[in-house]
Amino acid sequence: MSQTLEDIIARAEREHRLGKAEVAALLSCEGEPVQRLFDAADRVRRAFMGDDVHLRGIIEFSNYCERACHYCGLRRPNAGLPRYRLDVDEIVAIAGAAVPLGYRTVVLQSGEDAYYTQDLMATLIARLKGELGVAVTLSVGERSFEEYRCWKEAGADRYLLKHETADPRLYATLHPDMKYSDRRRCLDHLRELGYQVGSGCMIGLPGQTAVTLADDLLFLKELDVEMAGIGPFIPNPNTPLSKAECGAVEMTLKVIAIARLLMPQVHLPATTALGSIDCKGRQKALNAGANVVMPNITPNKYRRMYEIYPNKICLDDDPAHCRNCIGGIIQSLDRTVADGAGHSPKIPFSHLAG
Ligand code: SAM
Ligand code: SF4
Ligand code: FES
Repeated sequence: MSQTLEDIIARAEREHRLGKAEVAALLSCEGEPVQRLFDAADRVRRAFMGDDVHLRGIIEFSNYCERACHYCGLRRPNAGLPRYRLDVDEIVAIAGAAVPLGYRTVVLQSGEDAYYTQDLMATLIARLKGELGVAVTLSVGERSFEEYRCWKEAGADRYLLKHETADPRLYATLHPDMKYSDRRRCLDHLRELGYQVGSGCMIGLPGQTAVTLADDLLFLKELDVEMAGIGPFIPNPNTPLSKAECGAVEMTLKVIAIARLLMPQVHLPATTALGSIDCKGRQKALNAGANVVMPNITPNKYRRMYEIYPNKICLDDDPAHCRNCIGGIIQSLDRTVADGAGHSPKIPFSHLAG
């Protein structure tokens, strides 16, 4: 290739578009150009998103799951995991306690759990909006168009459904009971219904290559997501991928940085998974394009049971402690904690309050 890595980084910073071979070249770079990539992403983050870091309080409200994703500890065949479900009153109380800590968004996340019917979720969403006025992000997996529609009408603002990998063959090997085409259709439905859509992928899945990851990045750009969750794959001993290698910190940071260059206005979290494999992982991500952190606000007694992967951070820390810890991290990077809801700056969402 006649272009140097410097040329590619400079053009991505200027034009926010790259071809697949160029993205793959950046993903494969080593040594000095890696820091240049991170610095360029940091400049684009500052220019388009400012120094604010948005906090999203995540409530892991059920660890029941009907699926069998090969990487995830919540998978139904993992019979050794004690299961729990929170009821609507408890979830509203948890969210209510997070508001005085400064949270303006709650993320409701669970396994795919049909116990939470269309009506039960709608009741929960309406209460969170009506009683607390928080922005609500849902992350409860694949559901019907009708359910997504009902929850949007109940007030849900955003939906996080990671595509996990844009390689259909890899997707099929990792998801024995799911179809890539269903995933894509759900994302299309969410987009059509006017959600602020989050998607994303894991880094370091067995069989993944720089070309596959380039496809992931170009897929996120094509879908024009409002949020992209990019974190390392961490092997869980109680899953079929127990012997696989963990995703690499540097590759995860490169993917985040390229995501920022290609999608200047996207919300990019510094993920808990990255913080779990590197004690400075979230700081590194915030310096390489990220502008969101999603602290756990689930009560401590449940946290250990939401064991997607081992050695997750903050298992014994309560929500107030995590809020202080995150505030300190953000301040130490000369950044500020955002005080609004942190909706996407992209049209047509810019009319939203907060
Ligand atoms: N069930 C919903 C879904 O799958 O969209 C939401 C909950 S699921 C636990 C949330 C995310 O956890 C998934 O999108 C996946 O990327 C991530 N995840 C699962 N297992 C993981 C692992 N072993 N390492 C890193 N991330 C993992
Ligand atoms: Fe269930 Fe989501 Fe885990 Fe898959 S990733 S097993 S759908 S909780
Ligand atoms: Fe939980 Fe740091 S964010 S202790």
